[in-house]
Amino acid sequence: MDDSSLTWDDGALVTIDQRGLPHEVRELRLTTVDQVIDAITTLAIRGAPAIGIAGAFGVVIATRAHTTVVDAATQADDEHGCGAAEQVGQRSAAVSRESVRAGLSGGGVVDVAAVEAEADRIAAARPTAVNLAWAVERVRARIPEGADAVLAETLGMLAEDGRVNLAAATHAADLVQQLCGDRPLRLLTHCNTGRLATSAVGTAIGALRVLHERGAVTDVIVDETRPLLQGARLTAWELAEAGIPHRLTIDSAAAWAMATGQVDAVLVGADRITANGDVANKIGTFGLALAARHHGLPFIVVAPESTRDTAMATGAQIVVEQRAAAEVTGFGGVEAAPAGTAVFNPAFDVTPADLVTAVVTENGVVYRNADTFAGNGRAASSAS
Ligand code: MRU
Repeated sequence: MDDSSLTWDDGALVTIDQRGLPHEVRELRLTTVDQVIDAITTLAIRGAPAIGIAGAFGVVIATRAHTTVVDAATQADDEHGCGAAEQVGQRSAAVSRESVRAGLSGGGVVDVAAVEAEADRIAAARPTAVNLAWAVERVRARIPEGADAVLAETLGMLAEDGRVNLAAATHAADLVQQLCGDRPLRLLTHCNTGRLATSAVGTAIGALRVLHERGAVTDVIVDETRPLLQGARLTAWELAEAGIPHRLTIDSAAAWAMATGQVDAVLVGADRITANGDVANKIGTFGLALAARHHGLPFIVVAPESTRDTAMATGAQIVVEQRAAAEVTGFGGVEAAPAGTAVFNPAFDVTPADLVTAVVTENGVVYRNADTFAGNGRAASSAS
């Protein structure tokens, strides 16, 4: 559907710095683990699937940085017990003989323990979206095989992401039309779930794009998404780029848009979906779900399977990231609140499963709760 927003170029992870959008489209070239972690924590790269893929590229960078190139003769010696492993072990007292031995691969010696430590640091950069830990875990298994193997796994993940998002988006579009009927739709979305937040297509925005291509969208209400304005800065930019009709509103107007009959369904993404169907997503999502429930509107969550954390029983266990006070006390360098004002700034909230009409992934509808929806298309509540 579109080009990848994350690419690998000659040892660098290349992407758009989302902090500059929409007014400045600047390229970011990341070549160190610290740069990748900084990009994730400062939201230069953001959105659950995107930070997962970026984290995996971070492990590629770490593996390259902790690989010692050895020549063929030295490698042959090592097979007889007196080669590269010992030499590298001598060079760095901190490198255990076992970890180096485990990483001897393809002409290079990987310090597996050092890369594992970097992988841990990357996975901890943001705690709420499970995609980051999931992606780092997936490539971690390839570290002993060397950087090329980690890169191959990461590029595979990148290629999968667009396909998976398109499948989830198409299933979600089908569901919206099934629930709302074959009529022009007015939809509401929150935060940014488009190609910037993934690598391509997007999840909830992907569904908006599929519906738009079917000629089914008359209006999308875009929440600005305080405090960092992912809706105003990124979603409005992506929808304009895709030619999808939209109106930007302040977050606190969303319930009123529903009350005044301007919304047929709410579509959002997710950062973590627990086994019982609770959904962590951008702060403000819970309020939207409550308002949608009050008005009997479908509240639909679109996400890849990698966002489902079936090992976590309920949303009560989710760690909700708290962010800096400065994000709330002002914007763009302009202070709004009195100096020293105490702040509550959770980046996410958790919507209880009983407010979620459906969770849709590339596998189709994986959770459904008809009680939330007053319209047609009712079905029994179920989770799988
Ligand atoms: O803090 P952010 O901007 O990374 O939060 C992003 C969201 O909450 C998205 O809705 C979620 O990651 C899904 S992106 C497909």
